[in-house]
Amino acid sequence: MALGGHEQVWPQFVAGGSSVDAVEEVCRVTEDDPSVDSVGYGGLPDADGDVTVDGCIMCSPKRLGGVAAMRHHRHAVTVARRVMEQSKHLLLVGEAADEFAERHGIEATPMCTEKARQLWEQWRSDGSMPPQGMDRSLQSHQQVRPIQGSEGEVECPHDTIGTLAIDCSGSMAGACSTSGMPFKTPGRVGDSPIIGHGLYVEPGVGAATATGVGELVSAVCGSFLAVEALREGCNPIEAAGRVIERIDEVASPAADDQVAVIVLAADGSIGSAARLPGFRLLVSSEQGHQCMSPDLGEGGAG
Ligand code: GLY
Repeated sequence: MALGGHEQVWPQFVAGGSSVDAVEEVCRVTEDDPSVDSVGYGGLPDADGDVTVDGCIMCSPKRLGGVAAMRHHRHAVTVARRVMEQSKHLLLVGEAADEFAERHGIEATPMCTEKARQLWEQWRSDGSMPPQGMDRSLQSHQQVRPIQGSEGEVECPHDTIGTLAIDCSGSMAGACSTSGMPFKTPGRVGDSPIIGHGLYVEPGVGAATATGVGELVSAVCGSFLAVEALREGCNPIEAAGRVIERIDEVASPAADDQVAVIVLAADGSIGSAARLPGFRLLVSSEQGHQCMSPDLGEGGAG
């Protein structure tokens, strides 16, 4: 089982680390992993051969930040955290986001592995998608839910990383990081850096994050929808399921379009749902790291 950053982050987290540090660090580990083809360094390029990354981080509607379409800094969540903590803005994009990162002491990093470059060249020559291709979205995610810790993640192949955490003091945080769809049209941005779409956190209510086809998640403001469902009295499983149902009702997904959602309520309970089989999440707690199937959707059923 791939544990992403959970093993590294866990000891510090249970020793009293904050949820916001935990979600950032979990994402950073995967952003550095050359074997993950949909996040950070290992991410597959866009149609022009450039790897661009998106990400966001959120503690509350008053503490949040995001970046999109960065070409020179793989740690999207770290730059998003700088946006949250050191700017009066919410979302920075493109070259200006890279420049912001430089100005705030984050050095540029190599952004495309040799393997990703070869897969892009193959796609350009014959249109072939890599085996993981769009289907990589079938398996993804990280969730941290330390009610004294907790986390979740996905085995390889990964799509977006979405990580949620609640720390010993009860503070929640979430983070999301992705290189987006493989070979995407240059300039395309999905749900991951958009607050309310790929991620939403509201203290006292809960948090949600999504993975899969970002256009579908954005079409229903998926993560906000899930947290609103919690506010209405749904449990986390029902809240996650509502997002998948709404997408099916209004967004006309293709039969093979995957979307998955994980939800963490303020009381530490969790729920998850996926549109198609294959999605996995990793939940970390005092009991250890557990790779789990979603509560709804495995096997294609609700
Ligand atoms: N869910 C990631 C993306 O569509 O970019």
